[in-house]
Amino acid sequence: MGNWKMNGRRQEAQSLLSAVVTHAASFSDVDVVVCPPYVYLGLAVERLADCPGIVCGAQDVSAHADGAYTGEVSAAMARDIGCEFAIIGHSERRTLCGETDPVVAEKFARALAADITPVLCVGETAKERDAGRTREVVLRQIDAVYAACGTRAFERAVVAYEPVWAIGTGRAASPDEAQAVHHDIRGAVAQRNPEAAAGLRILYGGSVKAQNARELFACADIDGGLIGGASLVAGDFIGICQAACFKSA
Ligand code: PGA
Repeated sequence: MGNWKMNGRRQEAQSLLSAVVTHAASFSDVDVVVCPPYVYLGLAVERLADCPGIVCGAQDVSAHADGAYTGEVSAAMARDIGCEFAIIGHSERRTLCGETDPVVAEKFARALAADITPVLCVGETAKERDAGRTREVVLRQIDAVYAACGTRAFERAVVAYEPVWAIGTGRAASPDEAQAVHHDIRGAVAQRNPEAAAGLRILYGGSVKAQNARELFACADIDGGLIGGASLVAGDFIGICQAACFKSA
């Protein structure tokens, strides 16, 4: 899953999409999601319309339904233009936009209600990690969604474990480190809903590159990646999608 964040212009969007479409056959068994900025979502949906296996996601949705919320975009609107996924609670939104656990849970619920698959981002800061609080923080973020959405919350959802200290730093979690947290996440979901846990896709995000993707994706509970910086470089993103192929083989 590629998260372009607030980068690029129409021309870059078009050439990235063309490159992904051109190589689609080389990762045909992998589900690929591209998340451009909102203003380029329409052109992305159109460009990918005839490309099976590659769909679009939004980087965020409003916590509100339609109405008097200037500047916001509702989950229903994102669905209406063809988004199938939405990133919810990315750490940049939690820190820069002040999104609290309850707000994130509200957005998660809005996505589900609009028939969009929410991709819930969870992860600890460097300080929390150093204090040995990783598990506690991640499970608290999961619990907030359960509190708002009930025991069926993760039946149709994706979780992305993104340690904040690994995002955009070039310092990815090691496969063992990431696997341990992914295992905890699946365990927490299994306690409430074993079936949802078995089918849950848990992505790792934070400095995933073509060079480390395969090793990360080889872990039992790492089902794919949420890719930031490397999703802006066609060759890198394509390499990462190809690295995910063996998992589905
Ligand atoms: P990165 O970002 O791949 O640039 O570390 C990941 C993300 O923020 O989703």
